[in-house]
Amino acid sequence: MALLKGLFAKSPTIEPLNRWQEAFIRWNAERLGMSEEESRARYLASAASVEGGHAGREFRRHCEVQHEVFRVLWSDAPGEVLDAYRFHAPMHFLRMIAYTEYIWEGNDPVVEALAELDTVTIVDYGCGLAQQSINLARRFNGSVDLFLVDIPTIRKEFLAWYAADLKIPCAFGDVTEADPIPTLPAHDLCIAEQVFEHVYNPNEVFEAIHATLRPGGFLKTNVADHKEEFMHVTPKLASLRQRIAELGYEVLVPDRMFKKPAQ
Ligand SMILES: C[S@@+](CC[C@H](N)C(=O)[O-])C[C@H]1O[C@@H](n2cnc3c(N)ncnc32)[C@H](O)[C@@H]1O
Repeated sequence: MALLKGLFAKSPTIEPLNRWQEAFIRWNAERLGMSEEESRARYLASAASVEGGHAGREFRRHCEVQHEVFRVLWSDAPGEVLDAYRFHAPMHFLRMIAYTEYIWEGNDPVVEALAELDTVTIVDYGCGLAQQSINLARRFNGSVDLFLVDIPTIRKEFLAWYAADLKIPCAFGDVTEADPIPTLPAHDLCIAEQVFEHVYNPNEVFEAIHATLRPGGFLKTNVADHKEEFMHVTPKLASLRQRIAELGYEVLVPDRMFKKPAQ
């Protein structure tokens, strides 16, 4: 499945823990009313129960087996896929927490352009654990609003806690059966990373982003074709690439980074 593949493409990490893992330990301690030491021991015991930790091959295999076993109840068919995400959410959460963090360089053209603005709004569409958007918000201490879009699961509880802990203003767009594409705020940067292949209607999602991305705003994504895998429900994205080109987006990095025309 694509979600897992993305996770495994990143380097396995047990210790030293990354900032999301450290935050998870504090969040879980608060949630369960235990000391941080106890929460840390509990997290490390969980990671140690599979070789390579939650980012390793053994846990990946566990995830694949769980997907296959429970596919009888929740496949990735249109009417079942949100239930499948909800069911597998705790497992995906542990895997995502072990992601290697994305670091924004100060000379990144997006960072430089956003630094010119008084306030910046970032939409993170299909945010996962929002490593990219939160780390960018950290750079612009105090002048960034985040809008995180995903299927609400236990990850949302953690993200709400973590954003508050970091004092980053953050709102959520919940993807549900009743509201599959939440209304987006006007924004300066959309991060839609490893998500278009996960939705049945990538062009509709893109139109919602396009309609609210400010002129001159950036889209950070990956619209290359993907493999056919569980939850990779639209692996071929040629029609989306064509639409982005039709609308005159400047290509900063092929398939990855686009700039909306200024007018
Ligand atoms: C491979 S993960 C990528 C997560 C994150 N963007 C990253 O790069 O780390 C795919 C994400 O898309 C989310 N997703 C799946 N279907 C979605 C939908 N219909 N609308 C919005 N997000 C969706 C999943 O819950 C998951 O968080």
